Formats: sequence, C-alpha cells, structure tokens
Amino acid sequence: MNRLDALRYSAGLLPEESDAGYALAYVLGISKKEILAFPDRELTEAEEKKLDEIIRKRNEGIPLAYILGEWYFMDLVLKVDGSVLIPRQDTEVLCEAAIAYLKATGRRKVLDICTGSGCIALSVKSAVPDAEVTASDISPTALKTASLNAEMNGLDIKLVCSDLFSRIGGKYDVITANPPYIPEKGFGDLPREIREHEPRLALVADEEGLGFYKRIAAAAKDRLLGRLFLEIGSDQAEAVTGLLKENGFRNITVSKDLAGNDRLVTADV
Ligand SMILES: C[S@@+](CC[C@H](N)C(=O)[O-])C[C@H]1O[C@@H](n2cnc3c(N)ncnc32)[C@H](O)[C@@H]1O
Repeated sequence: MNRLDALRYSAGLLPEESDAGYALAYVLGISKKEILAFPDRELTEAEEKKLDEIIRKRNEGIPLAYILGEWYFMDLVLKVDGSVLIPRQDTEVLCEAAIAYLKATGRRKVLDICTGSGCIALSVKSAVPDAEVTASDISPTALKTASLNAEMNGLDIKLVCSDLFSRIGGKYDVITANPPYIPEKGFGDLPREIREHEPRLALVADEEGLGFYKRIAAAAKDRLLGRLFLEIGSDQAEAVTGLLKENGFRNITVSKDLAGNDRLVTADV
C-alpha cells in the first residue's frame, strides 16, 4: 500500500477522518505535510502493521493523542499521557490573546496555573522567548509531563506544584488559566472516551463548574499586575464575568473560539 492509499484506508476506518493524517505521519515518522510529497512511496509491512494497531486501539475508544503519546498544539508537539488533559484547539484562542498582549505591552512575567501538559505556558514561551514563565499544577504527574514537554521543545520555564496560588509567590504581568470547569452533574454527559481516559482532576469543578473561577477571581488580584486570561465553558461567560466584576476587575471581555462558542474571558486589575 502506498502513502496515498494508506491515508484513504485509515480515513475510512478511523472514527474521525481528519485523524488519518496524524496517525500516518506518526507511523512514518514524518510531518503531515510530507505524506503527500511522496504519495507513491510504499509503506513497509511493519508500518502497515503499526497503522492497523493504531486504528484498532482508536476504535476501542482510546483517544488518538494517548495512542500516539503526543499531540499538536500551536506550533509545538507535546507529549501526552493519562496524567494530562489532551490540549484542545479551543485553547489556542487564549494563547494567541496572551501572546498578543505580551508583545503589545512589553510585559514579560507570566504565570500559567492549572498547566497540565504545559501547553499554554510553553506556547507563550515559544512565541515570546524573553518571557519569564512560571507554570503550576496540583498534580505531580502532570508536572512531570509538562517538564518533559519543556525539555523536548527546548523551552525554559519554571514549574511549581501548587493548589492554585497556595505556593505561588510574587506578582505577574499575565496570569493564564484553563481550569477544570465541567459541573459534577455534567460529567456523565461527556463522551465516553473523555470520561474513561482523560483525568477527572482536569475536568470536574465543584459549585456547578464555577468553583475554580470563584477561587481564582478572589485570589488573582493579589498576584496580578496586568491582565488575567481565563478559558471558560461555552455557557459560563455571564457567571465568570460576574465573579470578576464582584472582585473589582476592570475591562472585562469575552471572546469566542473558532467554533463560535464563548471561550475566553480577559480582565485587568
Ligand atoms: C482543564 S485542565 C487544563 C490543562 C492545560 N492547561 C490545557 O489547557 O490543556 C486543568 C488542570 O488543572 C489541574 N488542577 C486541578 N485542580 C487543581 C488545583 N486545585 N490547583 C492547581 N491545578 C489544578 C489539573 O491537574 C489539570 O492539569
């Protein structure tokens, strides 16, 4: 089977057609773009076997990112395993806004709480190399993955194990967070592959999904010099902006992700 046939073959068998390029590129050890540069090149028997194994696992409901052990976010390739949430494209809107703010203001001190794989912290550091980035999480295993990702991408960030701000000192120009925001009663409605494979600690929040926003809105002002960037669930804009207003934040904005859902709230001290 040549590369083009392999792409069609896997697109037909994977639950999401668009995953075929990722799976095949992984098997061949090349980038997605390179697949079609040599469409007639034949796969070896071992490569075909590896591709079939990926398709089989994916059809058992294991997310592709966990099967491959790596995923793509902004311009980075990140290691992912069951210790961290798979970075979502939805989160790129937050990164782009934070990067634009840092570039426009010349501010450089960044704190990313609830960092997981480190996707936000590392993409900010990659885009603004002289930023001084601290990333924290309550999960030591997630921090281990974030640390490997920093090393793999040659990016120097500081990692801290902390329950939100409890072990964070100093003040930051920018605070970013994509905290857990799924209400406990909404967990059962998530797709099975998320429920069964992604860490519950990364997903579920108390107080009807608002627990982390309440704690962040109350504590962030003492740690912030400039702007807060929060990812939110698509139905949480009103509640989160309300919490920020109550806590004295100014210039509160809501932005949408690429799918047109409310996804980002920003606020200034
Ligand atoms: C929604 S995930 C976000 C991960 C990553 N920032 C991203 O955007 O893909 C939330 C993260 O918050 C972490 N977390 C959960 N409770 C926490 C707490 N009390 N303090 C700090 N981090 C926490 C989880 O371990 C998880 O890595």
